[in-house]
This record gives sequence, structure tokens and C-alpha cells, in this order.
Amino acid sequence: MSEAVICEAVGLVKHYDHQGKRLDILRGVDLRLHRGDLCSVVGQSGVGKSTLLNVLGTLDRPSAGSVVFDGQRVFELPEPELASFRNRRVGFIFQFHHLLPELTAEENAAMPLLIAGVRRGQALDRSRALLTEVGLGHRLKHRPGELSGGEQQRVAIARAVITEPPLVLADEPTGNLDVATSEEIHELILKMNERLHVAFVVVTHNPSLAQMMRRRLVMRDGKVYE
Ligand SMILES: Nc1ncnc2c1ncn2[C@@H]1O[C@H](COP(=O)(O)OP(=O)(O)OP(=O)(O)O)[C@@H](O)[C@H]1O
Ligand SMILES: [Mg+2]
Repeated sequence: MSEAVICEAVGLVKHYDHQGKRLDILRGVDLRLHRGDLCSVVGQSGVGKSTLLNVLGTLDRPSAGSVVFDGQRVFELPEPELASFRNRRVGFIFQFHHLLPELTAEENAAMPLLIAGVRRGQALDRSRALLTEVGLGHRLKHRPGELSGGEQQRVAIARAVITEPPLVLADEPTGNLDVATSEEIHELILKMNERLHVAFVVVTHNPSLAQMMRRRLVMRDGKVYE
């Protein structure tokens, strides 16, 4: 299958300077992601999985190398354009949902559209439809503190895909959920991948969930192996 390349990492290097010591975390990562890809990333704790996702998603800058979306080396963009690019083109799902506590589920999921300048009524209509699709039609007005962990992650998934970005990065999205709820969340990721053709890269410590993905990546010694 020759789906279009949506994101390419070339020679990614990331090191941290910590108390006079240099920590080499990414040591030359090359990775090509295609439209509709479904990738798991596994690797030991501390190997650099979150670092890789943060750099791919442009939340963090590499020490060397580049990330290319649609032919554009994104780290060359000025900061405001980079932020706008990130809001429209990359979705994030974190282990701890990172929803805004004072906003309702429908407002949280609508946030990327509101930031992109879509009018409020339209953004909330879209958010409600998507939340209904992820099984939360009965919890639209709940705040994160009034939702279960699995429900919070469903809102986070809706928020991540609401702009229909080409790429969603998920960092241990089921890390603090029970087994049954984890499976439901992974099923939902598969469904969103199928329906919207959004590519997902999912970091997980759960081998059976990793096996559900079409591409399986392993991080070791600062590199990514397929
Ligand atoms: N800002 C920082 N300064 C110094 N070292 C850091 C910094 N951020 C991360 N590290 C180190 O980089 C390494 C990689 O961290 P990272 O969070 O990417 O690991 P991970 O593979 O996601 O681990 P886990 O499975 O536990 O989430 C760790 O050893 C961590 O201590
Ligand atoms: Mg991590």
C-alpha cells in the first residue's frame, strides 16, 4: 500500500544537559508516517518514548534533525505559526487526560476548533456529535471531575480528532485505566482511525494492545526499530 507520507522524522537527535551531564535520549531516529497509519511504540521506561512523541508533535525541539509535515520542516516556522500548525494538524492524547477542569466535556472537546477560530455554535455542534459517537452523549455538560477515567479519555480522544488532523499522538492513553476500559479505549482509537483515516501513534506498556496495531515500533538505545 502506498499511502501518502504525512510526517517524516529525519535524523532526530535529542539530548538533555542535566547538572553538567549530557543525556543522549534520541540518537538518530528516522521514521516515516503515512496517512491512516496505526502504530504502537513500546520500549523500556526512560528509553525516550514520550520524548519522541513530544518532538514529533512539535511540543519539544530536537537537538538535531528535522520533522517534516507536507514538505515543510516545521521547526523552521516562527513560533506563532508553529502553534497554529500544531493546533490544526496534530492531536494529542496523554496518560492523564489534560482536560481543562472548569470546562464541560463539550467545551473541552471543542477547544481546538475554538482556538482555530471556528464560531462557538458550530464548534459545539461538532463536539456534541463527536462525543455522542464516542458514547458520551449523556455526559456533554459534565466537567472532567464529574467523569470517570475512561470517560475523561473519551473526551480527550474527541478533542484530539475534532479538527480531523492527519496525525494523533497518544502517550500511554490507557496507562491508568483498568483492563476492560483500556480495551474499550483502544477499540475507540481503531474506530476513529478507520472512520476518519487519522494516523495514530500510540505508546503503550500493554503488549496485547500493542499487538492490535498494524505497525509496531520498538525503541531501544535511542533508536526506533520496526
Ligand atoms: N527535561 C529533562 N531534563 C533531563 N532529562 C530528562 C528530561 N526529560 C526527560 N529526561 C530523561 O530522558 C529520558 C527519557 O524520558 P521519556 O519521558 O521520554 O521516557 P519514556 O520512554 O517515555 O519512559 P516511560 O515509559 O517511563 O514514560 C529519561 O531517562 C528522563 O529521565
Ligand atoms: Mg513516557
